Amino acid sequence: MSVAAQSQVRADLERLMPLLESRYLLPFTVGEAAYLAEAMTYSLKAGGKRIRPLLCMLAAESVGAGADSALGCAVALEYIHTYSLIHDDLPAMDDDDLRRGKPTCHMVFGEGQAILAGDGLLTEAFTLLAADTALPPSRRVEAIRILGEASGWQGMVGGQSLDLEGEQHTRHGEAVSLAQLQVIHRLKTGALLRAAVELGAIAGNADPEARAALRAAGEAMGLAFQIKDDLLDATATEADMGKRVGKDQGKGKITYPLLLGLTGARQALQEATERAICLLQPLPNPHSLTSLATYLAERSA
Ligand code: IPE
Ligand code: IPE
Ligand code: MG
Ligand code: MG
Ligand code: MG
Repeated sequence: MSVAAQSQVRADLERLMPLLESRYLLPFTVGEAAYLAEAMTYSLKAGGKRIRPLLCMLAAESVGAGADSALGCAVALEYIHTYSLIHDDLPAMDDDDLRRGKPTCHMVFGEGQAILAGDGLLTEAFTLLAADTALPPSRRVEAIRILGEASGWQGMVGGQSLDLEGEQHTRHGEAVSLAQLQVIHRLKTGALLRAAVELGAIAGNADPEARAALRAAGEAMGLAFQIKDDLLDATATEADMGKRVGKDQGKGKITYPLLLGLTGARQALQEATERAICLLQPLPNPHSLTSLATYLAERSA
């Protein structure tokens, strides 16, 4: 493990997460649907690595802006991500009972309320972004469009659909190509990580060249992130991960270890990480994002 990268990421988290926390639970302190608000805040507070908000704020800083310019985007990203986890864990999807070291939302609040908690977080993300006066209207609309595309049917939701279809292919003994797997990963996980970096670029008012570099680096980090998640499902412990492990094989998920083996998957992870790091270098302040890319490939949880 690169000690320098790890301590840089720890320092950035310590510096930036209090900013995130200052805004994170605010919308749910008022309102009439108190039980639903409890379900939403249960999952938001359960923990998690906060990788998407961190990517977003560091991307803004990488082009010389303040992290506070990207705060609204960072909060919106974590709402969308947490909603995606609540729905991913439902019995109709991956059927998981443990998330972020705690019982999943539907285990505590029931399936109906968990579906609604996901719906509530999804819609709140866009309400929050639309009202984010840190961004001038034209850039705000651009950020909303990018987030919508990345989280919707052409992004995360589409990838989740292909992921479920993939289970059926495995069940029927049908071969799935590496190209198909890459599409699943690019959509279900890569799209939101890429959007995290691109929203940071928009918030930081990056020039077109820097924005394109950040977008491409975000895409590579997104792929690397899901390859690592696949590897950890096959090799890590439940205590480390705070979620069940060894489930992908049991459910017939299409993963990098399934198609390439552990060694091939590790090689693909390294290639995607090196690609990301290379793309980041021309930016004005690439150091923190580079450390994060290294950490994401080496993480043990
Ligand atoms: C888990 O995401 C789901 C994937 C996209 C692989 P994270 O590993 O970022 O989950 P938390 O936020 O840390 O719980
Ligand atoms: C989930 O991928 C990606 C999402 C969009 C939530 P996984 O199903 O592999 O995520 P985990 O392993 O349950 O966190
Ligand atoms: Mg899943
Ligand atoms: Mg899952
Ligand atoms: Mg997984």
